[in-house]
Amino acid sequence: MTYDTRRRAPRTTSRPARRPHDEGPVTTPLLTITGVTKRFGGVEALTGCTLSVGEGSITGLIGPNGAGKTTLFNVISGLTPADGGQIRLGADRLDRLPAHAIARRGIGRTFQIPRPLGRMTVLENLLVYAHDQLGETLARVFTAPGRVSAEEHRLRERAHAILESVDLAHLASARAETLSGGQKKLLELARALMSDPRIILLDEPGAGVNPTLMRSLVATIRGLRAAGRTFLLIEHDMDLVTELCDPVIVMAQGRKLMEGPFAEVRRDPRVLEAYLGT
Ligand SMILES: Nc1ncnc2c1ncn2[C@@H]1O[C@H](COP(=O)(O)OP(=O)(O)OP(=O)(O)O)[C@@H](O)[C@H]1O
Ligand SMILES: [Mg+2]
Repeated sequence: MTYDTRRRAPRTTSRPARRPHDEGPVTTPLLTITGVTKRFGGVEALTGCTLSVGEGSITGLIGPNGAGKTTLFNVISGLTPADGGQIRLGADRLDRLPAHAIARRGIGRTFQIPRPLGRMTVLENLLVYAHDQLGETLARVFTAPGRVSAEEHRLRERAHAILESVDLAHLASARAETLSGGQKKLLELARALMSDPRIILLDEPGAGVNPTLMRSLVATIRGLRAAGRTFLLIEHDMDLVTELCDPVIVMAQGRKLMEGPFAEVRRDPRVLEAYLGT
């Protein structure tokens, strides 16, 4: 069996909206963040953050250190609850749901610092994650043992197919702690794919990745997007942003500063100012 990485094709509105800078249609927003706030003691990490991610896009999220990018991911994925504002995936309201419920609604994510279970194999990392995220329970071993092994078999096949798709199949039985930094990033992406997310939040996927693996990562992300998945991608590597992302959203001081194609965004004086901190 091969794992079908296709998702529903991106929808466009019947009368497409127009972007001021380009005549192409804008896709329907898939993820919508409205007025989200988050405070840590005296630090206002998100200050009324409003932005949306079009279905089928690879949207870049850039901005200086401390702008609130990772905090936004933590809030979207339910790792830390927002203090205020709304988060929607399509029409579904996500804020106030626990992290596992948000994952089941279709949000996958990777972490800025990969967090694999080092002593387990690459394959086991995917299976454990699936059990965790999909709410499989060991109780079924006693109530319906036949169904559990069929389910286990289905999960294993799916995990193998996903490892193929991110070019890690040859490392399926390697212990996760033996992987290079770049391979751990790919493992994180593979783990996120186990829950069949509609949108994947990638936190600095290119950091610490060697050029060869970077090619593989770019090809993988492109392939997944072509199959209908949506990405929101935090990145400081501007070559990777140039290559992959459209549009690019710039965050500064806890909210969106501007949005557009990277070629426009990078020339904007407000963006330069935010990066220089003047
Ligand atoms: N758990 C936390 N407790 C206290 N302060 C936090 C916490 N998480 C984030 N912050 C603060 O919130 C602000 C935003 O941090 P965040 O990590 O979201 O920035 P970022 O845009 O991801 O930066 P970078 O590009 O360096 O990863 C920073 O001032 C940070 O110190
Ligand atoms: Mg960060």
